[in-house]
Amino acid sequence: MLSNLEQQPADALLALIKLHNQDPRTDKIDLGVGVYRTGQGATPVFGAIKAAEQKLVDTQDSKSYLGPEGDMGFVHALMPYVFGKDDPTMGGRIEGMQAPGGTGAVRLAVALAKRAGVKRIIMGLPSWPNHAQILGDLAVELNSFNHATKDGVVDMDALRAAIADAQPGDAILLHGCCHNPTGIDYSDAQWDEIAPLIAAKGLLPILDLAYQGLGKGMEEDAYGLRKVLSLVPEALIAYSCDKNFGMYRDRVGAIYVMAENAEVLNRVLSNGYALARAAWSMPPDHGGAAVRLILEDEGLTRMWLDELDTMRTRMRQVRARLAEAGTTGAIDLTPLGHQNGLFSVLPLSGEQILKLREAHGIYMAGSGRVNIAGLTIGNIDKFIADVGAVSA
Ligand code: LMR
Repeated sequence: MLSNLEQQPADALLALIKLHNQDPRTDKIDLGVGVYRTGQGATPVFGAIKAAEQKLVDTQDSKSYLGPEGDMGFVHALMPYVFGKDDPTMGGRIEGMQAPGGTGAVRLAVALAKRAGVKRIIMGLPSWPNHAQILGDLAVELNSFNHATKDGVVDMDALRAAIADAQPGDAILLHGCCHNPTGIDYSDAQWDEIAPLIAAKGLLPILDLAYQGLGKGMEEDAYGLRKVLSLVPEALIAYSCDKNFGMYRDRVGAIYVMAENAEVLNRVLSNGYALARAAWSMPPDHGGAAVRLILEDEGLTRMWLDELDTMRTRMRQVRARLAEAGTTGAIDLTPLGHQNGLFSVLPLSGEQILKLREAHGIYMAGSGRVNIAGLTIGNIDKFIADVGAVSA
């Protein structure tokens, strides 16, 4: 039977990690997979996480099963950051469960939407490749629209048209902040327009918040999500701590459900538990427990927020330096200055991207997506010059 399976291509983004590791050049630059890097090019464990992990080792007295919902202390501790300190449950209408990373949360959200009768999901492209892969795997139709224009701004007309064309029973998947791959986010004013459109059309919003705190700040990055939630009766929220706590390989995430009332909320969650049980049974505990220990401790919380500030400031500085460089070859770097988060897309051809890799040791996704955090004082000038050289 197994020989019936067809060979699948390796995931292009994850394959880049290997290719970069195998490259012996000392001046190679990794702008591939989305991990934060310091000005020295390292991806260290957060100090707050180290401290929390130590506390966990010292105090955890059992590793017995928790259940498909995972560590509810972790799930609840995050809620004021995501939904606001004033009313994080929106009057008892929001509850969550832990998920293995943002991918687990998105997968569960799409599976829940499908169980609830959603057949089609509206989503802007380009998007994180895993979004379309999850929809494909769960056999949910994707109805795509252009996320951004060629000038590097949000294509509001395309979004308006996609919502206008939507059918009853459609869902819409939106990035909460730090759009992956473009870095082109909706402004607060645009969210103010989008949220009522979604509400008026009765779409089920699936909001993916994977980079809270890496854009403008923890509160600022939640603006759009909170705006949508303030106007719609129900929504699914996929959350990742992989980036804002630097927990990548520990797979730390959560899915939150907002329902019209507590009775529906409980029913939706019971479906979430059943789906999780059949997929991963229970989420990995360690990372979520470490995040919980941080959020339960004022000092560790301060430390984590400071570390997050440092990351955000560094990425802003890299973006400012790129924007300052203006045009290199045929590429205008100016728009990168006002984009957010780890990523931006450079309008390079496949051939130019390959040339950057082979001739210059610069690794970026085939879409032209660059991880801004891979640039440092030591390599940014080389990057600007090499992009100029291949695109001239
Ligand atoms: C990325 O887009 O680079 C990250 O979200 C890693 C991943 O899982 O794709």
